Amino acid sequence: MGIKIIKKNLLKLKILQMIKKFKNIEDSQLTITELMLPSHSNFSGKIHGGHILNLMDQIAFACASKHSSNYCVTASVNKVDFLNPIEVGELLTLKASVNYTGRTSMVIGLRVESENIRTGETKHCNSSYFTMVAKDENEKSTPVPGIILTSKDEVRRYARSIVRQNEGSKRTSRFNSNVFKIEDYLNLLKESNSKIELKA
Ligand SMILES: CC(C)(COP(=O)(O)OP(=O)(O)OC[C@H]1O[C@@H](n2cnc3c(N)ncnc32)[C@H](O)[C@@H]1OP(=O)(O)O)[C@@H](O)C(=O)NCCC(=O)NCCS
Repeated sequence: MGIKIIKKNLLKLKILQMIKKFKNIEDSQLTITELMLPSHSNFSGKIHGGHILNLMDQIAFACASKHSSNYCVTASVNKVDFLNPIEVGELLTLKASVNYTGRTSMVIGLRVESENIRTGETKHCNSSYFTMVAKDENEKSTPVPGIILTSKDEVRRYARSIVRQNEGSKRTSRFNSNVFKIEDYLNLLKESNSKIELKA
């Protein structure tokens, strides 16, 4: 009797997996290269961080939309560190790939590199993770196909996204204004560049 139930459940799982759609990561991977123009520079002649963020959002959008076959919105952006300045006249290459698929959300991994045209020298400018959510025609969040993980690196990136999400929600709940207690953080702020002057 027990074996029959297990067999039945396994069959159900197989059917579910057959119905559920999975797509190859390579099919939505994208690369764009842009020349950095003087109009994108700040007062010190380097490229504005905001321009780079704009390009990153565009390629994350394109990659997520391609994977989900729907228009997507940016739900959140994981920390963006600008590791190296980008100069006017350099070629900027952005690469995007789906790292994780939830029910309606996808984490798109981005890598940005600049290249000096004359010397060919390349610099890693930043890596970041954009969470994009697929929307249907009525602007409602809609399910996305899963991804097929075919290498250790793909499994590593997928697992990292899950762990990062879990850690993120733990961090956020600790600082929820309903549970936050100033007394718990007075020591932490003691040596900081701030002064507490609470108004009644
Ligand atoms: C983010 C947004 C899509 C959430 O959609 P929602 O349907 O209200 O909320 P849900 O709780 O059902 O979440 C849908 C998915 O988004 C994810 N999500 C929601 N907020 C998130 C956040 N801040 N960071 C990461 N993921 C988030 C959820 O985990 C869920 O993923 P899953 O389906 O894979 O499990 C919605 O709030 C929205 O449209 N925001 C505006 C987005 C936008 O306009 N971006 C451009 C800014 S100019």
